[in-house]
Amino acid sequence: MSDLLLRLEGLEVVYHRVITAVQGVSLDVPQGGIVALLGTNGAGKTTTLRAISGFIGLDDARVTEGAIHYRGERIENLAPHRITARGIALVPERSKVFENLTIAENLEAVVTRRGANRRQLVDSIYALFPALARLRAREAGYLSGGERQMLAIGSALACAPDLLLVDELSQGLAPVVVEELMDQILRVRVELGTTVLLVEQNAHIALEVADYGYVMENGRIVLDGTPERLRAHADIQEFYLGAGGGQRRRSYREVKQYRRSRRWYG
Ligand SMILES: Nc1ncnc2c1ncn2[C@@H]1O[C@H](COP(=O)(O)OP(=O)(O)O)[C@@H](O)[C@H]1O
Ligand SMILES: [Mg+2]
Repeated sequence: MSDLLLRLEGLEVVYHRVITAVQGVSLDVPQGGIVALLGTNGAGKTTTLRAISGFIGLDDARVTEGAIHYRGERIENLAPHRITARGIALVPERSKVFENLTIAENLEAVVTRRGANRRQLVDSIYALFPALARLRAREAGYLSGGERQMLAIGSALACAPDLLLVDELSQGLAPVVVEELMDQILRVRVELGTTVLLVEQNAHIALEVADYGYVMENGRIVLDGTPERLRAHADIQEFYLGAGGGQRRRSYREVKQYRRSRRWYG
């Protein structure tokens, strides 16, 4: 399939040779798409993104089964710099920026892919994030949470990726800031043509921008579909979209059983 950029096929990831964190995960990311990978804490989302970007090697983990196909080539267990060179960039969870460097210096510190026009790229990043342009001489340590995330996205984009992996952009940020960041993700796709795989615990906001979503639990995909279908899914509503908020989050399976028994007894 020519319009498929990334395909995970039966992916299994094992930490320290004994802890299986991801099991039999298959998912497709079409060229130009925005795909959401949803799930609660510990589901295996970060592990999946770090497997794609090659960073699991640094965490003493390996892909032990299955395959990661990128542009039709196998890339599982390659070194991170080789994966970046092929056009995949990660915005990590709790994004890392160089706090003692200015915004401009942070963007300069990124190794851009061979063949990319660095100057043009940085200009387009400033156009996408006017706040970064305005604050370019400010040290990253003084930025707000939202501005830091913008810089983290900008730094990943400075690699000139074709596929951007984004891990929990919304974590710890106010809803209006998150909305602005999601708008910017949409603009990244439109203006730079970048494909996005977006990991989120916050299903609400991820399904607003994604074309397709997968729900992960205990290292496996338990559900997938269009945002319309996922939003309409009763279990998703109850479990991920905040119905009964504040309570302990039950597993998807528990909710299913719960719904079944409730239907039974009225
Ligand atoms: N460095 C690590 N060593 C061992 N186990 C890990 C490590 N990182 C994550 N895990 C385990 O892998 C599972 C999935 O974690 P993670 O991918 O971080 O989930 P998520 O991002 O969905 O919260 C969890 O059970 C977690 O304890
Ligand atoms: Mg995570």
